[in-house]
Amino acid sequence: MYKTPIIFACLAMFGASVCSADAADRTRKQDVPLYKDASASVESRVEDLISRMTLEEKILQLNQYTLGQNDNINNIGETVSQIPGETGSLIYFGDNAVLRNAMQKRAVEQTRLGIPILFGFDVIHGFRTVYPIPLAQAASWNPELAGQACRVAASEAYSAGVNWTFSPMVDIARDARWGRIAEGYGEDPHLASVFSAATVRAYQGDDLSQENNIAACLKHFVGYGASEAGRDYVPTEISRQTLWDTYLPPFEAGVKAGAATLMSSFNNISGTPGSANHYTMTEVVKNRWNHYGFIVADWNAVMQLVNQGLARDGKDAACLAFNAGLDMDMVDNCYGEHLAALVDEGKVSMERVDDAVRRILRLKFMLGLFEKPYTEELPDSERFMLPESLAAVEALAQESMVLLKNEGNVLPLENKASVALVGPMARNQGDLLGSWYGRGRDSDVISIYDGLSGALAGKTEILYAKGCDFDGNDTTGFAEAVAAASQAEAVLLCLGEKRNWSGENASRSTIALPEIQEELLKAVKRAGKPVVVILSNGRSLDLTRIAPLADAVLEIWQPGVMAGPAVAGIITGKYNPSGRLPVTFPYTTGQIPIYYNHRASGRTGSQGRYQDIPSTPMYEFGYGLSYTDFEYGELELSSDTFRAGDRITASITVKNSGRRDGKETVQWYISDPACSITRPVRELKHFEKKLIPAGEEAVFTFEIDPMRDLSFVDHDGKRFLEPGDYYIMVKDRKYKITLADE
Ligand code: NOJ
Repeated sequence: MYKTPIIFACLAMFGASVCSADAADRTRKQDVPLYKDASASVESRVEDLISRMTLEEKILQLNQYTLGQNDNINNIGETVSQIPGETGSLIYFGDNAVLRNAMQKRAVEQTRLGIPILFGFDVIHGFRTVYPIPLAQAASWNPELAGQACRVAASEAYSAGVNWTFSPMVDIARDARWGRIAEGYGEDPHLASVFSAATVRAYQGDDLSQENNIAACLKHFVGYGASEAGRDYVPTEISRQTLWDTYLPPFEAGVKAGAATLMSSFNNISGTPGSANHYTMTEVVKNRWNHYGFIVADWNAVMQLVNQGLARDGKDAACLAFNAGLDMDMVDNCYGEHLAALVDEGKVSMERVDDAVRRILRLKFMLGLFEKPYTEELPDSERFMLPESLAAVEALAQESMVLLKNEGNVLPLENKASVALVGPMARNQGDLLGSWYGRGRDSDVISIYDGLSGALAGKTEILYAKGCDFDGNDTTGFAEAVAAASQAEAVLLCLGEKRNWSGENASRSTIALPEIQEELLKAVKRAGKPVVVILSNGRSLDLTRIAPLADAVLEIWQPGVMAGPAVAGIITGKYNPSGRLPVTFPYTTGQIPIYYNHRASGRTGSQGRYQDIPSTPMYEFGYGLSYTDFEYGELELSSDTFRAGDRITASITVKNSGRRDGKETVQWYISDPACSITRPVRELKHFEKKLIPAGEEAVFTFEIDPMRDLSFVDHDGKRFLEPGDYYIMVKDRKYKITLADE
């Protein structure tokens, strides 16, 4: 649907000839500087502008500060009056363009060169129309729907004057204690890569200068998700091999899709912090992937090199980060304070300064900021929560929900005269937004109670009782909840996590829900009615004491403003659940890290297993139930022996043998049983989601390109393909194919 920005492919072609044509043209328009001529090429405008800039002006472009109200307690705002008009970028916290336009006027009309400011913001899963957290989006296995939601976010953000989102977050995370697992696409490099590319294309569109398109930022580069013991900001231990086969792929996919920027990470990567890592930022991103845009630091990440034990002081930190390839400094002003002296002392070259400035200016020109620096100030009713936006985010929300258990087909609930709606999440609004909710408002959220009230009106009576809070030990509400359960024909018990239990700086030592919620389940269970547990949370959970007591379990994650209608649709059968887990659900926290694509152990059977708990997960990656049944036919391969340049087609027919229409996601895995670098036991390589009407069949196909789909990568990113046997795996079917010696 979206194409890689054409400019990306063309940059290499801009050169002396373009510049000289532009120069000739200039002789005819001598009164307007070339960089202000919209008809000139981006590259010639960049070069012209750089040639006019003083070192001080250049350094100001390399800095980002904040503007406006700061809602994130991890960041501390700064007042407008302190901001020079020559500043490169500002994090803009407003939801209308008034303040932003005033600041832009200062930059464009009251500075010597009139360079517009680039306004960025954390538009992570919606600007005002908040939609499911990224982890939930991945559970939809529907990148197109995620892309549609990103389009909503992009146009709302654009309407407020935001040109650049700090999204997508593509950190692979395998430790659910880490609060930021909520912000990414889960544990699998391929699934995350597909969502990375789809969301980048959706934010940016075909042409960044067009209305409603905003620049994307791949973060956090790189390996932040490997945080030790799931604690935030701590060091990570990542071998070069794992860096390449696990953590880098979603970034590479995003760069290939045209992502304008990357954000360096807080974590120390085995001795060299992400924000001072020459290998990852310069050798990989800039030199090998030929990235055209720039790398911004995470908040205070340059100064934090001192705390991390790499830099002696702020000046040393600026020198190390900048020379490693980090182009823009976020808020700590290390570049602002020290780069000029570092250039003077010969520790930082002018070439490096120009390279960084060039990258930042290039994006400003590509965004069309020089031609259209201001944002039209429109009323909220024309920009936010539009009907088509709500429809798009409801579709994503319902497809992201995962039915984990449905004993005796208790769901969907049909022909019930009454249901008890119980639990701390039942009438809650704000916590359904999740962390990083942009400019979203609690009051925008349709609660589960309101969603069900609408869907069941006139058919089913709802008996509501909160029961208890999310935590604490006040059980005085239990009696009312049990009474409601006793009177009703079924119980919907809404449990989960508050929104600030996940996200940045929000790790937990256990991934079980607080005991009081488990006790509430035990109490209502005693009423003897079928119990459906509805879970809203930002990570995988330990459900060992919850799932056995529940007849059905529906994982709704943090679905955003359309939570109520999406949940009600699934509960009543309007929607057939089609989400699949993008992360493994362990039995207990002690099993972490547990993920499907681990390497094989030397011993099999009971050897190496835990003595006290199972070694397998409670719900594995890719798992999820439907209200219908899908029967897989035989897998057909165009050939089972092939050569490296061949293409093999694998296909499988899936029949919907139930009575409801449903969407099935066929997941194609490969395995390489013997390789010179040992590989994961299974690797997801392709997936496809299709609607199959009841009683009908659909054919799913995987076109295998051996170099892309069967190869592996070494510790320095070199892709290789070895002759021998491979397996193609779908569901419980496994077929051998053989790559012949050339
Ligand atoms: C810190 C977070 O780590 C990052 O994800 C975010 O984009 C920046 N702050 C800016 O708010």
